[in-house]
Amino acid sequence: ILDNYNDVSEFAAKYLCRKLRDFNPGPDNYFTLGLPTGSTPLGLYRQLIEYHKQGKISFQYVRTFNMDEYVGLPRDHPESYHSFMFNNFFRHIDIDPKNVHILDGNATDLEAECDAYEQKIKDVGGIDLFFGGIGPDGHVAFNEPGSSLASRTRIKTLAQDTIIANARFFDNDVTKVPKQALTVGVATIMDAREVVILINGAHKAYALHKAIEEGTSHMWTLSAFQFHPKTMFVVDEDATLEL
Ligand code: GLP
Repeated sequence: ILDNYNDVSEFAAKYLCRKLRDFNPGPDNYFTLGLPTGSTPLGLYRQLIEYHKQGKISFQYVRTFNMDEYVGLPRDHPESYHSFMFNNFFRHIDIDPKNVHILDGNATDLEAECDAYEQKIKDVGGIDLFFGGIGPDGHVAFNEPGSSLASRTRIKTLAQDTIIANARFFDNDVTKVPKQALTVGVATIMDAREVVILINGAHKAYALHKAIEEGTSHMWTLSAFQFHPKTMFVVDEDATLEL
């Protein structure tokens, strides 16, 4: 528990710096990172860009897998997660774009796209560290309430609450928010060797309570991480209001 959002972002950025230093990535030893979108990780990305500018961190031997992408939104739409990641992070660091993996929400065969994504993660030896955020309904990636805790990368219809929450990025017009997304499953994230979930704000407090103070439930998909051997929730004071 940290005081505020800035501290959460800084802690997460320093945590990754330490991890990379200990891992010592190189041409034969890539570090595989899972990444989220949303407003929560923006502070983390800003801090990492700053550390990169100061020469404290390099992404030359890092490969990334993003959690999710909207279905049917053009890749260059300003609100696609592809645009989000390049505008807010990848464009400002030394990552090779060929090491960036983001689901293609415009693939002709969406199911095949999801299966191929799972396979790619397996082929590179799994994810070393998955950063995540959550929705106020406790969803992680786009694993909405009711998602199987054994779920893998797949097409998911967004919950009405999520559509309403994300309308702020689409001129506050719910009709403009895509209704479906491709998302890694709960089990995909559970397979990561380490998971770090960032949570800030009183609007996420009930979800945090449900995730850690009650039993595991597919209605609060974040609660699955009670079973993960190495998961850390990095939260601000406001997010602890219901604990
Ligand atoms: C979307 C994303 C999630 C993210 C959530 C919270 O639903 N698919 O991965 O955690 O938004 O977003 P924010 O951080 O803006 O509250």
